[in-house]
Amino acid sequence: LSNENNTMIAGNELAGKLFHHLLVNSEQGINALHYLQQRGFTNEMINTFSIGYAPDSWETLVNFFEKRNVPLDLMEKVGLLSKRDFDGKLFDRFRNRVIFPIWNKEGKVIGFGGRVLGNEQPKYLNSADSIIFNKSTIVYGLHIARPEMRKKNEAVLFEGYVDVISAWQAGVKNGVATLGTALTNEQAKLIRRNAETVIICYDSDNAGLKATYRAISILEANNCYVKVARLPEGYDPDDYIQKKGSEKFRSEVLIANQTTMAFKMGFLRKGRNLQNEGERMKYIEDVLLEITKLSNAIERDHYTRQLAEEFSLSLDALKQELYRIYKIGK
Ligand code: CTP
Ligand code: MN
Ligand code: MN
Ligand code: MN
Ligand code: MN
Repeated sequence: LSNENNTMIAGNELAGKLFHHLLVNSEQGINALHYLQQRGFTNEMINTFSIGYAPDSWETLVNFFEKRNVPLDLMEKVGLLSKRDFDGKLFDRFRNRVIFPIWNKEGKVIGFGGRVLGNEQPKYLNSADSIIFNKSTIVYGLHIARPEMRKKNEAVLFEGYVDVISAWQAGVKNGVATLGTALTNEQAKLIRRNAETVIICYDSDNAGLKATYRAISILEANNCYVKVARLPEGYDPDDYIQKKGSEKFRSEVLIANQTTMAFKMGFLRKGRNLQNEGERMKYIEDVLLEITKLSNAIERDHYTRQLAEEFSLSLDALKQELYRIYKIGK
């Protein structure tokens, strides 16, 4: 690592300590602390994930870095400071936000996510990409989840830090997340190095379901054994834990997970009226296409039979169709 990278990381580490201190020990942090408590964040969560608060001020960090001789230009590069257009004056980029440090896999702070306390936009603000912070390669929470991931040979994949932290308090210690972006091959590889099985537990809204669909193929392409959590429609993991409790989350959402094929069939069914002949045929075609992608012959057989049974079709016809789709795909 170059000197410059080290300085950038050191500056982030310092800022993280300041934010945490301001949340936990200062008058300025009281609203943020109350906000977190209202959302069910315990002291244990706040300390384990070093959650902090960036005050409603333009120059808290600028002054803090100046006093400690941290090069301000580098703190601009990591996205903690911004430059005012008309006179080039630097100011704090994160203001009046709850702060979630984001670590590299060694557990060093390389960036931050900040959430507003109310409903202002944008709800979440992350550090900008820099030499030390590349969103598409970061697996949030990896250094905290790693021991449990290795022990269980299993990871739970969430959309964001709030879900990871909430699940952690609910007893799920092998949770990690992407930062609100689509899963990349690099992230999948990093997960696979620590666990073979991955349970995807994204939000159960349209965006989350679509992202789950994509994540399945990326994880499978990287030799993960993938399952999908069973989160009722409209919930995200944190909502569910707050409303239904930890025990239910573990047993009815995570342990009661579904196979990727069961998830895909549910997804392909959505919004379709299977009483309608045309829509039913389209559904059957879509499921058959998914079946041809399965590498395991036993699974292929299982789902083909299931389809035959559900729609009273002959197994022969389905197999012929499977073969046709398979040939087109080649
Ligand atoms: N996220 C992000 N950047 C964004 C949007 C989202 O990093 N621009 C991450 C955050 O970690 C966030 C997660 O993606 O926790 C899930 O996003 P979303 O579902 O939109 O957040 P909500 O669950 O609606 O947030 P909250 O519960 O705090 O209201
Ligand atoms: Mn602490
Ligand atoms: Mn979401
Ligand atoms: Mn969400
Ligand atoms: Mn949420």
